[in-house]
Amino acid sequence: MQRTLVKSALNASGPSDAILLQGWVRTRRDAKAFSFIELNDGSCLKGMQIIVDATLPDYANVLHANTGASIEVRGKLVESKGGGQKWEVVAEQFTVLGETDATYPLQKKGHSLEFLREIAHLRPRSNLFGAVFRVRSRLAYAIHQFFQDKGFFYVHPPIITASDCEGAGEMFRVSTLDQKKPPLTPDGEVDHTQDFFAKPTYLTVSGQLEAEIFACALSNVYTFGPTFRAENSNTSRHASEFWMIEPEIAFCDLNGNMDLAEEFVKYLIRDVKEHCAGDLEFFSKFVDKELLGRLDFVLEKPFVRCSYTEAIAILTASGKTWEHNVAWGDNLQSEHERFLAEEHFKCPVTLYNYPRSLKPFYMRVNENCEPDRETVCAMDLLVPGIGEIIGGSQREERLDVLRENMARHHLSEKDYWWYLDLRRYGTVPHSGFGLGFERMLMFVTGVANIRDVIPFARTPGTAEF
Ligand code: 4AD
Ligand code: MG
Repeated sequence: MQRTLVKSALNASGPSDAILLQGWVRTRRDAKAFSFIELNDGSCLKGMQIIVDATLPDYANVLHANTGASIEVRGKLVESKGGGQKWEVVAEQFTVLGETDATYPLQKKGHSLEFLREIAHLRPRSNLFGAVFRVRSRLAYAIHQFFQDKGFFYVHPPIITASDCEGAGEMFRVSTLDQKKPPLTPDGEVDHTQDFFAKPTYLTVSGQLEAEIFACALSNVYTFGPTFRAENSNTSRHASEFWMIEPEIAFCDLNGNMDLAEEFVKYLIRDVKEHCAGDLEFFSKFVDKELLGRLDFVLEKPFVRCSYTEAIAILTASGKTWEHNVAWGDNLQSEHERFLAEEHFKCPVTLYNYPRSLKPFYMRVNENCEPDRETVCAMDLLVPGIGEIIGGSQREERLDVLRENMARHHLSEKDYWWYLDLRRYGTVPHSGFGLGFERMLMFVTGVANIRDVIPFARTPGTAEF
């Protein structure tokens, strides 16, 4: 007999004489004549109620079916007489595949998120993490669907790279040199010509530069893969390994880029609302009571667009005392971003045209826009509760300006010869952005810590599992 998943059994259109369920025991309650077991197989939040009659020959097995045990049940799917569920299963055969004992950490009571992080190998079996990872899977699918339906091609940039796209120097080195006795150059420096790739290499911080190559050939592309940042920031929104989606669009300016970002975010919210309704309901009940209202609100209104210069004026005029004061030319801190999205505009905000000095070498320099040549075509999408979820820009397509930017950033033209070639041969205006996959997940689930939306978080000091 074929196994039925709980999700389909709960949605059955009629009773069934023979059904096979497999899963894990969530709870067991023994009455005189029966035992009630809630079987969960992860296919959805809800479990199936199993009734085992004490006269069943297999009944002795039931007494070994403790919370967490894996079981297999054959029986009948019948309409439930009790409240709370439409269907239940009356067992005819009951097998325990793997027992547990009292040391099983996920007993019924609620656990702290911190504790659950320590048992990341078991936490997917809890309601919360089952829901998070089902939504994560759906969100990934929706991302592909969004771009594929629009005719974008999925490209796979390398994970090991020699270039530092964001120029922040926050890269993990990849090397096979003997750490204790690396080969040295005559000047006493580590000799990377003897390393595996014959040059210094790192884990990528972004697939953008390679995506640009493909956009300048296939027109519309996107990446979706892991990226790595060796920044030592211990916050609830930063991970050292996170997934990023980076569309890159040829013949597109910053406005088109902001339009796409907004359409994309709204599409993802709509998709998850439609396909993960049960899980979202759970989050809104137990994680963030305002979640569903906030998601609806975000869908209804156009996002605000505000230039960096206007934003500085708003922050200055706010009369608030900041931990970090801001003036034109300063990086916005999370307190400023959150003030703009949560208190001032009370909705998602796309900030654009940032000071040139704050941004990487590849962003397009603005002309005819005050202060002239001092801002770039950058954009950041800020959402309430999180702050930045998207960062992007129009790229500098003019060879001479790009070279000037590279010089400002002390980048060697020799290392980026292929990137410059894109401007030498058939250059086009093009734009793109990066959406942090985990930040988007935090936004749609209301889960407040990035460590709780990624299966195995990599953060400074932690790489268990
Ligand atoms: O703003 P970022 O650094 O932009 C880029 O990497 C560009 N190359 C993207 C592009 O234009 N193609 O990162 C993009 C997004 C951020 O808005 C944030 O959502 C996420 O990636 N992000 C992180 N998420 C989790 N942990 C971190 N340490 C993150 N750093 C960035
Ligand atoms: Mg950014």
